[in-house]
Amino acid sequence: MKINKKVEDVLNKQVNAEFWSAYLYLSMSAWCESKGFKGFASWMLVQFKEETSHALKIMNFVISRSGEIKLQPIKAVETSWTSFLNLFEETYKHECKVTEMINSCYEVATTEKDYATATMLQWFINEQTEEENNALEIADKLKLIGEKSGGIFYLDKKLGSRTFVDSTKNSE
Ligand SMILES: [Fe+2]
Ligand SMILES: [Fe+2]
Repeated sequence: MKINKKVEDVLNKQVNAEFWSAYLYLSMSAWCESKGFKGFASWMLVQFKEETSHALKIMNFVISRSGEIKLQPIKAVETSWTSFLNLFEETYKHECKVTEMINSCYEVATTEKDYATATMLQWFINEQTEEENNALEIADKLKLIGEKSGGIFYLDKKLGSRTFVDSTKNSE
């Protein structure tokens, strides 16, 4: 069954939001790199790749349901932050905004009785809980560390070990 028009529209908007997220994290990665913190930069780069894979995951789904993808311009993102704590607090706020968007996609899908889309979106609902928690956990650590540079260097090293898992290749 061809995808419903209203559902197709909100999913297209979500594709844009995922690319916008990717763009934001790429900007954050560049900021970390310019400050000389390679671990933070690499963590943000993994985040950029994850968001890109989210956009692709939705695109693939729309196409598999004979829907149309209409890529729109990506709005500008911030380019500087006041501290690493500020960076992760903004990350958390951003993820909460994206969660709201995913929730409204889910609402449209269920109102339109498009259960295939609702099922696909369930993966994203779980993913958002994880993303919000990740950002909060790091922000909490940064609050504990405060201005102690040793702690920031330790966290930088730790975050640098994060690896990218392509969500378009499996259901995890
Ligand atoms: Fe995402
Ligand atoms: Fe995200």
